[in-house]
Amino acid sequence: MKQSQCEVLLISGHPDLSRSVANIEILKRLEALDLFKIHRLDEVYPNYQIDVQVEQDLLTKADVIVLQFPLYWSTYPALMKLWFDEVFTYNFAFGPNGDKLKGKKVILSITCGATESSYQAGEFNFLPLEQYLQAAMHPVKAAQMEIVDTVITFEMNSTPDEGGDQNTVMQLAQQHVERLTHLINQLT
Ligand SMILES: Cc1cc2nc3c(=O)[nH]c(=O)nc-3n(C[C@H](O)[C@H](O)[C@H](O)COP(=O)(O)O)c2cc1C
Repeated sequence: MKQSQCEVLLISGHPDLSRSVANIEILKRLEALDLFKIHRLDEVYPNYQIDVQVEQDLLTKADVIVLQFPLYWSTYPALMKLWFDEVFTYNFAFGPNGDKLKGKKVILSITCGATESSYQAGEFNFLPLEQYLQAAMHPVKAAQMEIVDTVITFEMNSTPDEGGDQNTVMQLAQQHVERLTHLINQLT
């Protein structure tokens, strides 16, 4: 891994990367670049038993934290929700001495199955995605972290029965990685 002054950590919240097309492709391409540590929650916690101390230590060491997840019901999957619930504790992430994450930079890196235009009033997904993400980012904001940017790729649907196409998802994954690495390079 290349040495940098700035420690970047990617947390993958996909619940099962063995069944993923989009996220696994993004992670494989990022791993090939060997730019920063990638922490796959599904691999480390297949039984959803989060080791809070390990996670808090990882976060404490990082300067930039990338939250990588597929959008499930317009938020992160249950595994990542559990991770927030367990790891963002009183006097670590919030409370009188809860400043351990304060000022750390956060990048959201999100894959979606839906179209961008479905995220508006009167359409299938009802609201702009930014509005759903407000609630999703409550713990990040409570921890006084700084959300610097969001990399979102829509239409990452690889299921032919649902009108998806694997080749398109592969191309979108490459573009997603380029946008994400460009952003990280600017920060580090
Ligand atoms: C339970 C579930 C809920 C989903 N909800 C949404 C959603 O609200 N909005 C959306 O755009 N895509 C939604 N999707 C589609 C996923 O975001 C999409 O399949 C995923 O980003 C593709 O990544 P993967 O191949 O790594 O699993 C959902 C998928 C599942 C399984």
